Amino acid sequence: MITLSVIKADVGGYVGHSSSHPKVLERAKECMEKALRDKLLVDFHVTRCGDDLQLIMTHQRGEEDEAIHKLAWDTFLECTKVARELKLHGAGQDLLAEAFSGNVKGMGPGVAEMEIEERGAETIIIFMADKTSAGAWNMPLYKMFADPFNTIGLVIAENMHGGFRFEIHDVKEHRKITLNAPEEIYDMLLFMGAPSRYAVKAVYHRGSDEIAAVSSTQRLALIAGRYVGKDDPVCIVRSQGEFPAVGEVLEPFTNPFLVEGWMRGSHHGPLMPVALRESNPTRFDGPPRVIAAGFQLSGGKLVGPRDMFDDPSFDKARQIANEIADYMRRHGPFEPHRLPLEAMEYTTMPQVVRKLEGRFVALE
Ligand code: 13P
Ligand code: 13P
Ligand code: MG
Ligand code: MG
Repeated sequence: MITLSVIKADVGGYVGHSSSHPKVLERAKECMEKALRDKLLVDFHVTRCGDDLQLIMTHQRGEEDEAIHKLAWDTFLECTKVARELKLHGAGQDLLAEAFSGNVKGMGPGVAEMEIEERGAETIIIFMADKTSAGAWNMPLYKMFADPFNTIGLVIAENMHGGFRFEIHDVKEHRKITLNAPEEIYDMLLFMGAPSRYAVKAVYHRGSDEIAAVSSTQRLALIAGRYVGKDDPVCIVRSQGEFPAVGEVLEPFTNPFLVEGWMRGSHHGPLMPVALRESNPTRFDGPPRVIAAGFQLSGGKLVGPRDMFDDPSFDKARQIANEIADYMRRHGPFEPHRLPLEAMEYTTMPQVVRKLEGRFVALE
């Protein structure tokens, strides 16, 4: 068995929240190299999406392993030192806990992990987003694994015809529900259609029970009780064979659907699929970005990455995203560009409201 762990955090932005400094990535690689020499890891790949540092690791220690989580946490601390030396913006931004306590979940970083028996050809796509929230994967995961207009394999591939099982987390009430596609899609969409509260944590093949996808569902604002930056989630998807083909996995991103995030984490904007080198959100600190790193696993070794959105067939999606960005921006501080009031409670708005509290008078 091999475990793929993707653990990410924003440890400091360069410049502002737009990107990552090469020296931060270098330090992360040094930490990972050491773990490789110590035989803790089988392989690793360090990358970034916007200002978020991404540690992609393979090992044989299973999910939620203390040593792996500690390695990630210590790496983020080391990288924060570099960020502080360079006085990067928001150094240590996502490291909410004082000290490591066994598991990085609930401490700020985002986590997506899956333990798998590597197939003859193990195709993996890792999606990483910046300037958006956990829950952003709901629509694409629905399309990949439940929508035959996206994934023709659900119709014509015998090994996918039985459908997929969705594990959906209620991130506010800390509970979960599992629902089956296709027969329960109307129930599923009731929850998945509200991504600020319900996030798809995992998807399973109903015939083999194999894990098909897993995402990070950590909500920074709910952990911190205040706004500290967006979750900027990640999602691992297995592809080919009994899972959707690479093109079926990428297809949902041709529609730059609206997500929450963007400037000050307080707006709705289109999710723009880009090549890694273009994941530097600058316009109004956005619009939100998603990158896709493709790998073949070979004995746990990460063969790759291929930069999957680095393809002219996604130019149109980027163009539409820019048009939507223009249109949404013209709403300025008005909803639905600005998030609804309930969501604004997890931004910097409460302080302003508190200041004006005494100015309100009762209506006649
Ligand atoms: P190839 O014939 O290139 O392997 O493609 C098969 C396939 O299923 C593409 O979706
Ligand atoms: P990040 O969550 O990517 O740090 O962005 C924070 C922000 O406020 C951007 O305007
Ligand atoms: Mg940041
Ligand atoms: Mg970010």
